[in-house]
Amino acid sequence: MKGIILAGGSGTRLHPITIPVSKQLLPVGDKPMIYYPLSVLMFAGIREVLVIARPADLPMFQTLLRDGAQWGLRITYAEQPQPRGIAEALLIGAGHIDGDECALILGDNIFHGNAFSQLLHRESRQLHGCTLFGYRVNDPQRYGIGVTDPEGRLVAIDEKPSHPRSNRAITGLYFYDSDAVDIAKNLRPSARGELEITDVNNVYLSRGLARLVDLGRGFAWLDTGTPEALLQAGQYVRTLEERQGVRIACLEEIALRMGFIDAEACHALGATMANSNYGRYVMSIARELAA
Ligand code: DAU
Repeated sequence: MKGIILAGGSGTRLHPITIPVSKQLLPVGDKPMIYYPLSVLMFAGIREVLVIARPADLPMFQTLLRDGAQWGLRITYAEQPQPRGIAEALLIGAGHIDGDECALILGDNIFHGNAFSQLLHRESRQLHGCTLFGYRVNDPQRYGIGVTDPEGRLVAIDEKPSHPRSNRAITGLYFYDSDAVDIAKNLRPSARGELEITDVNNVYLSRGLARLVDLGRGFAWLDTGTPEALLQAGQYVRTLEERQGVRIACLEEIALRMGFIDAEACHALGATMANSNYGRYVMSIARELAA
């Protein structure tokens, strides 16, 4: 399975912060936002990742993430000149996907929950069609919404409905089989001029091949779209990290735990950042797991 992180868009709700810098590079706690979606792909066992961003922003993502080899990954980059819709990521990424299955994640989506890695592994192994991840929210008008029948089967997905038929948002993580690129090729722009990911999902739904996995109450799916939400997301992350003494979305630790790199390589990565708490944490984890 290939991974794609869509990290474009103009982040207008965060202006003026996002005038010179991409939203997905802003800090959440002590890490850049894109670390969080990248950690999700790593937890799913994905090692080939395409990062899509605005042309002006790509060099900064490249400076940060490089070719991914330091984490045992292969990271490549592609431009999205205009935000023409989330589904455009499947067209831009067609060569990267190359007939494989893919996991598409939005670069501003933050997930955190117990046993998430096992859940992602299970879902990627049993993928048949598309798998979507639902999360209960109290402002469903802002999202794609999954409607289920009394048996819990997904029957419709409504994009930002003014009269939502459920509270179950479809989060920005999508697992697709190898048909997704062809489906995206046949899309027409919506009324707002975008290639809608909800239209891709509805094609799978019409084929009886869309599965909705509910992320339960103990799970966090955090918003980063406004200055308040961004601050709250950072506070959430730091509160848990300080309380437990472990870090969320520490890529070096995840690479080590997933077996993508060894403890020595992990320690060396931490040593390059030894002046920061993050770097010292990476070194301590490397020592702990080497023991
Ligand atoms: O976050 C989940 C929601 O994401 C889903 O529930 C909705 O079904 C889906 O349409 C999407 O809704 P948003 O209103 O949040 O989409 P937005 O246009 O804000 O884009 C989400 C992120 O993707 C944002 O960080 C910018 C980036 N993006 C968006 C578009 C349209 C791109 O990089 N390129 C694009 O063309």
